[in-house]
Amino acid sequence: MNGNLLTISQLSRGEIEEVLDVTDTMVEVSSRRIPKVPALRGRTVVSMFYEDSTRTRLSFESAAKRLSADVMSFSVASSSTRKGESLRDTVATLEAMGVDAFVVRHRSSGVPAMVARWSTAAVVNAGDGWHAHPTQALLDAYTIRSHFGSAEGLRVGIIGDILHSRVARSLMVVLERLGAEVTLVAPPTLLPPSTDAWRVGVSHDLDSVIGGFDVVYALRMQRERMTEAHLPSLREYTECYGLTPRRAAELSERAVIMHPGPMNRGVEISEALADSPRSLVTDQVANGVAVRMAVLYLLLGPGREALGEELSGAREST
Ligand code: CP
Repeated sequence: MNGNLLTISQLSRGEIEEVLDVTDTMVEVSSRRIPKVPALRGRTVVSMFYEDSTRTRLSFESAAKRLSADVMSFSVASSSTRKGESLRDTVATLEAMGVDAFVVRHRSSGVPAMVARWSTAAVVNAGDGWHAHPTQALLDAYTIRSHFGSAEGLRVGIIGDILHSRVARSLMVVLERLGAEVTLVAPPTLLPPSTDAWRVGVSHDLDSVIGGFDVVYALRMQRERMTEAHLPSLREYTECYGLTPRRAAELSERAVIMHPGPMNRGVEISEALADSPRSLVTDQVANGVAVRMAVLYLLLGPGREALGEELSGAREST
């Protein structure tokens, strides 16, 4: 991973598969009576979130603790950022305390890369602006691989607010690298001006394409990032692009539903579908911890070769 995980684009197919393979081991660790191993003992991970989060922040902190790393949690609301301390000074301050990895979320694209330039510690992008959310993409890829055996040849529809979505930008790259066929489904106003550089299909008509998907991935409507009126109304959006029981009836028998969370129930996904047997949403959350354990281990641990020894010795003692 070259010392940092800033985007999915930096990873080859082989590197993505390595993360997913190490995740298999971390799922096994997480299933133990005491889901804790000493692999990162003596290492310190700081979660540095300048934007709200439930899943990403808590799963990174849980992942680090399961690997026995020390965890520091930085929160803007209760930090000296509120007294005007700059991001650069904050990074230098935390680094002086002895940090091995920064897990960074920020509303502005490029901030994790900037932190990586300022610091010698590893940096993991936990979501930056509209740009990238690489660990979300890895956990989604892992969830798809666990369910179907492989992403190769699967037809995946990513539906909704593509324009503002770092999840979509990272997910389409990881899926393309793993051999899936991606179609973006959205109104023209919720797509970027051009998608020519992306190896994806595009549709504006969900009803005409939904029956062909193996995975239907609904995106959150990111109202907090919208600076103009992109839609006539949310009701109209739900009418045309929402995952509803009527649309679920058109899905193929083996199709599954995914969502990165947090869900706007009743907007992009109905209550009934969010909780239906087709929904992999809770698997995504559970896999998020194991994927983040794998990422932290690959960045900070003694290497993949030592994985068996690191984790099996601990198993005997638990
Ligand atoms: N999917 C995701 O990033 O969720 P959080 O904003 O809760 O971290």
